[in-house]
Amino acid sequence: MKCQLLTAAVLTLVTLPNMGKTVDVEIVPEPQKESAIVSPEIYGQFAEHLGRCIYGGIWVGEDSEIPNINGYRSDVVEAFRALQIPVLRWPGGCFADEYHWRDGIGPKEDRPTMVNSNWGGTVEDNSFGTHEFFNFCELLGIEPYLSANVGSGTVEEMAKWVEYITAKDGPMAKEREKNGRKEPWHLKYLGVGNESWGCGGNFTPEEYANVYRRYQTYARDFDGNKLYKIASGASDYDYNWTDVLMKIAGHHMDGLSLHYYTVWDWDKKGPATGFTPDSYYYTLGKALEIDSVVNRHVQIMDKYDPKKRVDLLLDEWGTWWDVEPGTNPWHLYQQNTMRDAMVAALSLNVFHKYADRLKMANIAQVANVLQAMVLTEGDKMVLTPTYYVFKMYIPHQGGTFIPLDIKSPSMPVASERKDFERSVPMVSATATEKDGIVTISLANTSLEDKAKISIPLSALKVNKIEGGEILKGADVKDYNDFDNPNKVAPKEFKGAKIKKDVLELELPEASIVTLSLK
Ligand code: AHR
Repeated sequence: MKCQLLTAAVLTLVTLPNMGKTVDVEIVPEPQKESAIVSPEIYGQFAEHLGRCIYGGIWVGEDSEIPNINGYRSDVVEAFRALQIPVLRWPGGCFADEYHWRDGIGPKEDRPTMVNSNWGGTVEDNSFGTHEFFNFCELLGIEPYLSANVGSGTVEEMAKWVEYITAKDGPMAKEREKNGRKEPWHLKYLGVGNESWGCGGNFTPEEYANVYRRYQTYARDFDGNKLYKIASGASDYDYNWTDVLMKIAGHHMDGLSLHYYTVWDWDKKGPATGFTPDSYYYTLGKALEIDSVVNRHVQIMDKYDPKKRVDLLLDEWGTWWDVEPGTNPWHLYQQNTMRDAMVAALSLNVFHKYADRLKMANIAQVANVLQAMVLTEGDKMVLTPTYYVFKMYIPHQGGTFIPLDIKSPSMPVASERKDFERSVPMVSATATEKDGIVTISLANTSLEDKAKISIPLSALKVNKIEGGEILKGADVKDYNDFDNPNKVAPKEFKGAKIKKDVLELELPEASIVTLSLK
């Protein structure tokens, strides 16, 4: 949890010329011989014991009247299955460094309760623990990503947890079997602590780097399971953390994390809905600043690791607004509009650019918390506009990145940081190729103007439009709720054509389009 106070920005927007007009934008694909693969894990998710993310969002228990599969909400299982989630990070977040895994195994009635002191003092009954998490991942074919407790846990506790999950034989395996699971689970991603500069123990980077070296030593590979070890990384602009970690512990890690939230001001975040155009553009500027932030962290990593052995993992990102009125301020339940969808699209477009170093990203969080995929209330569930962006972007998972030269006008927007000049391009786009299909995703950020896009295809060996989808609200402030669950949903997009080897389309204002070409 960040305590950083950002100075409120004074917004001075320079609007695009010809408001309400159609603006020509040319996008030139520049495929390269050797281009990075967009790691599917960039489409990863994060589930913390926070508010109603786990309880009510994923887990209702076997005895619930809400339709469920072994305790997991059936509607959510179906929604997540359709999203092809590659990886899920659990159990936190800040919660991870107070979580003692032994409290969450064995007969439910014997599991001790605890106070979730990070998130409003809610009493946690530990009914969702290791078995429930790993079985959920197995049910959906998701790669689990475990965050181990460093702040208030011991090396032994972490080592035994790994053994309990992955060993075929021995005392931990026997205990697991007694608790109903004979075969070990598969565990690849192991995070050693979370936000160790803050809620994860308030370490200095030097202290944490040494603690990390010690903890990771005892995270063993059992019976063919191979761990991928992740050090807890920096918060957004803390480049020194990355530098020290790479210097002292770089040789002992497979990945180093980074957290970046799109937030206005930690003390005054603003409403998720009913925002002004200024707030909309400011938000997109802040979201896009992740480009420079990732770039600077990557440069530091390149200094110590030019061969790119260590991956950068953005294991928390997304929008952070005021909670919905009347809800627990610590449960971080927020609505999700087309503005959030736009943040998702612009951010994913940036992530693709760093595909050679950025190998995972986990949006916060998968259900009912922050920029969620699904919102639930009792037995009802809605899919958010952000969910639909992730769904439309599925074809990019595992695709080869195709750089684009986008000749788009931009508008400067205010920044609270002197070292960054923020601007929002009218059009943001990304392209990948997989199995002979080129997928192009485009976003028009303008609230007023349409973009007339032309994309010469000569460099791309494709000449046919296979399909297209558009996500757009009647208003950028539109969202889905339990009375109106389908207000914002993708529709078929037929506004593209190929003329003399040039793809042409008109991109409506505040819209996101994905096209597949063959
Ligand atoms: O995602 C909510 C919180 O944000 C996480 O628990 C923490 O890691 C971050 O500060």
